[in-house]
Amino acid sequence: MKIFSIESSCDETSCAVLENGRLVLSNIVASQLDKHSLYGGVVPEMASRLHCESIVGVCDQALKIAGFKLAQIDAVAVTFAPGLIGALLVGVNFAKGIAMGIGKPLIPVHHIKGHVAANYITHKKLEPPFLALVASGGHSSIVEVKDYTNFNPVGQTIDDAAGEAFDKAARAMGLPYPGGVYIEKASLGGDPKKYKFPFPKTSNKYDFSFSGLKTAAINLIHNIKQRNGELDISSLAASFQYTVCCILSEKFISAAERYGYKKIVLAGGVAANSLLRDMLEQKAKMLDMDFYYPAPEFCGDNAAMIGCQGFYEFLAGNIAGNELNAVASHKL
Ligand code: KG4
Ligand code: ZN
Repeated sequence: MKIFSIESSCDETSCAVLENGRLVLSNIVASQLDKHSLYGGVVPEMASRLHCESIVGVCDQALKIAGFKLAQIDAVAVTFAPGLIGALLVGVNFAKGIAMGIGKPLIPVHHIKGHVAANYITHKKLEPPFLALVASGGHSSIVEVKDYTNFNPVGQTIDDAAGEAFDKAARAMGLPYPGGVYIEKASLGGDPKKYKFPFPKTSNKYDFSFSGLKTAAINLIHNIKQRNGELDISSLAASFQYTVCCILSEKFISAAERYGYKKIVLAGGVAANSLLRDMLEQKAKMLDMDFYYPAPEFCGDNAAMIGCQGFYEFLAGNIAGNELNAVASHKL
């Protein structure tokens, strides 16, 4: 079965063609990063306009590389939620048009489920059930993946997402957007224990709270600057990254023990972070758990992960009609 998929929930316009769920025939990602980085973060209205400008070209390229015409596609999968509403609307309406034009099913995909599915592309034998940690610019959630389409959240952020915390702290440190990548680069050679950050408490022990950390980083920088002290950016980046990764990995592992999972899966843009992967790798080894994470090209937003999840949604009978609408926030 050949699925054509579309992702446009934030600042990447992406189209892909997949065969039987896990084989990626093409995956084109047009990033808007250089445009948004001028403003230090994603400008929603600009994101929508840029999606409109590039979606036709990205679609054509994905089909060309896969070597298929639209008429040969069996179904169209699209991210319908959650995300920036204007950005989602571009992908959803484009997908509806294609599905209607070729007379094939339209499959709605939840973006977070797509992030988890990125792991099926990388690890061909991986199957649910398992416990997943999805950490991205918009989400930080610990979820039980009971089967391919049945998810049960056990913890999530009560304020900022992990990636958002990286982005905001990086901005305060004078590093470019997206912050996670630049904090990781800046941390090389830095001392992760030089600056102390709080470990925020949450009433549900598997929830996350990152907004206090971001404020702590901003206050620390102001204090040092006010005293004309010397700011060691490398150690500040290393200390901030170390704290976020400790929080994510400790809560995730603790939830895996509590809910009895021996298979754990990392997903989302922050899954590209080497320290987070190393910490989880070590903890999983000690506890005899199997740990999976996606190949780097499938960590950030891409349509291949949406096509992969779309395949399993299709098998579960999850097909949308033409009334499908984009939804900015939608529970798993
Ligand atoms: O999944 P994603 O591409 O988009 C959303 O769904 O939000 O995630 C983007 C987020 C950004 O906040 C970015 O700073 C973060 O992922 N990120 C990283 C790294 N690479 C991307 N965070 C930490 N370390 C990285 N290497
Ligand atoms: Zn994402």
